[in-house]
Amino acid sequence: MITRSLRELRALVRRSPFKAAGRVVVITGGAGGIGSRLAERLAAAGASIVIVDRDEQRASAVASGLPRVGKAQHYAHVADLTDPQNIESLMAAIDVRYGRIDVLVNNAGIAVSERFASRDVASIENEFVVNTLSPLYVTRLALDLLRSSDDPRVISTVSLSGIFPQGESVVYCGSKFGLRGAMLSLAFDLKPQGIKVSCVLPSATDTRMLRREAIEGGNTLQFQNPPQTPDDVVRAMISVLDRPRLEAYPKPSESRLVRAAMIFPNLLLTLLPLFEGKGEQGQQAYLRKLIERGDVVEVDGRLELAP
Ligand SMILES: NC(=O)c1ccc[n+]([C@@H]2O[C@H](COP(=O)([O-])OP(=O)(O)OC[C@H]3O[C@@H](n4cnc5c(N)ncnc54)[C@H](O)[C@@H]3O)[C@@H](O)[C@H]2O)c1
Repeated sequence: MITRSLRELRALVRRSPFKAAGRVVVITGGAGGIGSRLAERLAAAGASIVIVDRDEQRASAVASGLPRVGKAQHYAHVADLTDPQNIESLMAAIDVRYGRIDVLVNNAGIAVSERFASRDVASIENEFVVNTLSPLYVTRLALDLLRSSDDPRVISTVSLSGIFPQGESVVYCGSKFGLRGAMLSLAFDLKPQGIKVSCVLPSATDTRMLRREAIEGGNTLQFQNPPQTPDDVVRAMISVLDRPRLEAYPKPSESRLVRAAMIFPNLLLTLLPLFEGKGEQGQQAYLRKLIERGDVVEVDGRLELAP
């Protein structure tokens, strides 16, 4: 028992590059900013990629633009992951095409900017279903296909909002805290079956999700620093493939600060307001940059995401 634990501890610090060639990788939210970059990176290394997304146009564009190495076969599967029947159809289609899943990436997510007091019940429920329940449905229904792999992995894109409270995004934080708790627990439950479960916890990342939040004036606290790029998050995802572990943080310094602050949660109500001004300025600076870049445009006097 002790020898096995020591062997596992050694494996935690040893990096052995993940061999993507020939692997079947399923990425939910694969049409989005982070998912599409991960897809490109793993496809270039020889994996077959299944892009799962509710956005048909973007999903097809991403899948058809992926590099095809060797016998790799990519495809886009359109599904609304809030519907368990859609997930069952997804797994049936993957079974027919590939017969297994080597890496499942639970990455689809939404962030609603509206403040808690004006949210209706349906919108609160939907954010939880997309961010917390659907990754659990997908993982549950993928288990048979994962068991058919000789090295099955599950990675979930959580968020720093999964370990740190933010008053401007109550429901998003709750949904990501829930996702982190479930995935950490699942890592223990699935370990005896050889399925390795990891979470990646990004902070603000320059994707359509964050751009929308900047336009709508959502969570300002997250703009203490300029947002990172999707590639920064992808590096952390690849690092958990290279060196499987429970959690990885794309921005280690920021995550250490946040984790240290959570040792004294009772101080947060007093301390967090000190960061509000910098967050608001950061959000405005980001919005100006998005307009300069043409990622945000003015239509009829209102700011909108460029198509
Ligand atoms: N961008 C950030 O600042 C940030 C920070 C921390 C964590 N995250 C997390 O990263 C993940 C990826 O987000 P992103 O930043 O790439 O945003 P994104 O909006 O570019 O991508 C999210 C994708 O999920 C898809 N999606 C949403 N709901 C779905 C549903 N019901 N069924 C199927 N697909 C659905 C969307 O169509 C979209 O393509 C999310 O889980 C998000 O919560 C993002």
